[in-house]
Amino acid sequence: MNQTKLRQLNEEMEKYFQELYAPEGRILVPGDGDASARVALVGEAPGEQEALLRRPFVGRAGKNLDEFLSLTGLKRPQLYITNAVKFRPVRQTQRGQANRPPTREEIELFRPWLLKELGLVRPRLVASLGNVPLLALTGRRAAIGQLHGQMLELPELGCALFPLYHPAAVIYNPSLREAYLRDMQRFGQLCARL
Ligand code: URA
Repeated sequence: MNQTKLRQLNEEMEKYFQELYAPEGRILVPGDGDASARVALVGEAPGEQEALLRRPFVGRAGKNLDEFLSLTGLKRPQLYITNAVKFRPVRQTQRGQANRPPTREEIELFRPWLLKELGLVRPRLVASLGNVPLLALTGRRAAIGQLHGQMLELPELGCALFPLYHPAAVIYNPSLREAYLRDMQRFGQLCARL
């Protein structure tokens, strides 16, 4: 049932963005996992591997995520995993294309779709991974450095929000690791109580 509604929503979203970004179009990567999950994870945007396979968190960031999830006892099939922006934002380099952070405009364009998507899944707890999904979900520029590991409310969705650092940020900035491990442990405990 939820799966069917999500599929319909993804079709509508695909149509909307193919028209918006015509003529070149965009490869959209839909959310993945248990369509009735109690816990949803929201990342930033797909990378190269995700765009190729059309699944979120299957590249290097996915491997990092799995490693951190293993600390919580949570398994991917129990979760719903999606991204704030559904296509891979790229910039041109001399050697081809490289990932870039989504723009504020891209985040705003996808925001209503993200809220509808999570409104169908109806998780009890949403974990945002990094600053981009935190902005997309709250509609406010908020600093992950100040909000990580705190329980917040998402009144629009009637559920709790638990901001986490993005797993890739922890790889690039090892000084975040200790705080991240603490947050992950807390996150695991919160999920176990749902
Ligand atoms: N892959 C995703 O799907 N999302 C991210 O935020 C990073 C990598």
